[in-house]
Amino acid sequence: MVDCSSFSTFTTMENQEPKHTRRVRYKGTHPKSFKEKYKELQPNLYVNDVEKIIKQGKTPAGMHRSICVDEIMDILSIEPGQVGMDATLGYGGHSLEILKKLYPKGRLYATDVDPIELPRTEERLRGLGYGEDILVIKKMNFSEIELVVAESGLLNFVLADLGVSSMQIDNPDRGFTFKVDGPLDLRLNPNSGKPASSLLKIVSQSRLEEILAENSDEPYAHEISSAIKTNIAKGVVIETTAKLKDIIEGVLNFIPKNQRKEEVKKTCQRVFQALRIAVNDEFGVLEKFLEELPYSLAPGGKVAILTFHSGEDRRVKKSFQYFQRLGLYSEIAPDPIRPSTEECNSNPRARSAKLRWAVKS
Ligand SMILES: C[S@@+](CC[C@H](N)C(=O)[O-])C[C@H]1O[C@@H](n2cnc3c(N)ncnc32)[C@H](O)[C@@H]1O
Repeated sequence: MVDCSSFSTFTTMENQEPKHTRRVRYKGTHPKSFKEKYKELQPNLYVNDVEKIIKQGKTPAGMHRSICVDEIMDILSIEPGQVGMDATLGYGGHSLEILKKLYPKGRLYATDVDPIELPRTEERLRGLGYGEDILVIKKMNFSEIELVVAESGLLNFVLADLGVSSMQIDNPDRGFTFKVDGPLDLRLNPNSGKPASSLLKIVSQSRLEEILAENSDEPYAHEISSAIKTNIAKGVVIETTAKLKDIIEGVLNFIPKNQRKEEVKKTCQRVFQALRIAVNDEFGVLEKFLEELPYSLAPGGKVAILTFHSGEDRRVKKSFQYFQRLGLYSEIAPDPIRPSTEECNSNPRARSAKLRWAVKS
């Protein structure tokens, strides 16, 4: 029997009795660091506290708030009995909505590369009663969609919600954020490839400049790449998020003091994004996924893709247009759909999202 209520499903699932655990020690009246936020990290035990945080327009630690859920469900118009794929499982919010539409029969293949968050999400969804008969979870890159199709047959719908989850961003051990110190890693799968700190050591200055300019249109790409490589040549170790932020701050020292803080923040956002894209080969895997997509969908099958920056949106738009010209898509989104003002106000992380869709001929 499946529990079919919405957000609170994830927080009240499994009929768990709150276990008494000793409060994590922290200074002051409110926990500040990720690991101290013991209530947010156990949403099933502290339902009311977590809902209060969401009402304040924040994302509780260890949780992800799914974006454009209604718009995506409208586009995919899922019916019981269909077979589809959620290429980016994350916290499982979109998957849960899909499963509610599919139930009692049909099958959702859900993939993610993150070996840390995937088992947690699987446990939550299985805890709600979704077994292997309706939900197949695979730890794999969505660029290998053909492996899913080999098992599932052609798909009635595909969803991809690109980029990183709030759990990944907020956990300082993952190295995705410059707001707190942590290892300069930025890998979606820390068991594969090399962390961003290693990339900085081996990459040439000119290639690093290209990475910053191409992946996030960084206006100070030359100055920052040069400062990074000069520091490394002098023996400075850049292995933490705080050290990279220090170097960026040094480069932007010429900016008047009253504008500097904001400019440092924006520059750090762009530099971290550019390095994340490089470390995970995000454009390479997205392009391969987009090329496979029209051959993975059944006739009339629908795809919805949520992007978070122009490099992603441009690739999705061009691919949809190209395959429409070839006659493989019968219809594509004329313009990207943006999250509503209410959603952006309630979840600022939705602000940069753009949603595009296509229908297989
Ligand atoms: C924005 S989150 C998805 C959130 C999810 N839709 C939800 O409702 O909770 C993006 C997720 O995609 C995963 N991801 C990013 N690139 C991937 C790839 N190439 N293959 C598989 N998973 C990927 C990330 O690890 C992350 O968990």
